[in-house]
Amino acid sequence: MTIFARIAGTGSYLPEKVLTNADLEKLVDTSDEWIVSRSGIRERHLVGDGQTTSDMAVEAAKKAMEAAGVDASELELIIVGTTTPDFIFPSTACLVQNRLGALGCAAFDVNAACSGFLFGLTVADKFIRSGSVKTALVIGAESLTRMLDWSDRNTCVLFGDGAGAVVLKADSETGILSTHLHADGSKKDLLHCPVGVSAGFNEGEKNAGVRVLMTGSDVFKYAVKALDSVVEETLAANGLDRHAIDWLIPHQANLRIIEATAKRLDMPMERVIVTVHKHGNTSSGSVPLALDEAVRSGKVQRGQLLLLEAFGGGFTWGAALLRY
Ligand code: COA
Repeated sequence: MTIFARIAGTGSYLPEKVLTNADLEKLVDTSDEWIVSRSGIRERHLVGDGQTTSDMAVEAAKKAMEAAGVDASELELIIVGTTTPDFIFPSTACLVQNRLGALGCAAFDVNAACSGFLFGLTVADKFIRSGSVKTALVIGAESLTRMLDWSDRNTCVLFGDGAGAVVLKADSETGILSTHLHADGSKKDLLHCPVGVSAGFNEGEKNAGVRVLMTGSDVFKYAVKALDSVVEETLAANGLDRHAIDWLIPHQANLRIIEATAKRLDMPMERVIVTVHKHGNTSSGSVPLALDEAVRSGKVQRGQLLLLEAFGGGFTWGAALLRY
């Protein structure tokens, strides 16, 4: 008998503080017009003083567990996709596990930059499909604005903070149909934060410090091609025509990238979940945040076919097709 991993509940959390494009105009030489026309972003949320990635992850997780009707004692696996963990160790997943009171189950982080949630979802799907676990919590949570250079207009206007989560349950009928992951480490320099424990925090390339460095236009071009390709791969693997998809739930980095993928799928924007204007790029948080918003607004209905996709530093990218 085939076992599927079905999304039993979704949840999300956005920090209170909102930074608008007008606020950014006071920090760097930019304009609302430039940011909106190049990225689609109008505002983003920022973690508060003392607030951490695990704080946001816990809030999103609680909502997903409530929606799924799942108690902490039922969780057998917790995966957090994040590139901005509270600490080097213990993992954010262990911090979340402790706060939820789900002690004993496996808990670990996945770092695939902005694709972290999709990579985590894929790992959890494999655990469930193999029969190893029946109930898993997958979170994408980031406080990426903590590692932005607020004097660099190339990057500081693009990102925001937040978390999203799903509870997956083993199901005999339907759920995640396939997942497809890729990486290309040769493009590591186009989007990176090249400091760390073993490379050193101050001596890294370009003496960068802990901040995001990006060659935006090259990232843009690669992302559009990679997402096109993984979307095709996903449709082919499932023998589906592109018109079969009910909802596209894309990574929310740039409205123009989202529109390019939608065009490839011949999908009207009415069937694409867009949150980038309100959230900015929340990295691993972006897909589960968009999914939760789509579920709670009543757009996404049980039985519909959803295509999730993401792209991030590494490069990493991937897609998941699921029957909700
Ligand atoms: N405000 C005003 N001008 C800005 C600016 C800002 N915030 N940021 C950059 N510019 C300027 C640049 O300096 C450049 O000026 P120049 O031509 O005088 O050198 C000009 O705008 C055009 O920059 P360019 O990078 O070619 O613009 P673009 O159309 O590619 O849009 C991005 C820039 C960053 C929005 C776009 O490349 C992008 O979204 N890339 C992908 C980023 C991404 O998704 N990253 C995360 C992946 S998970």
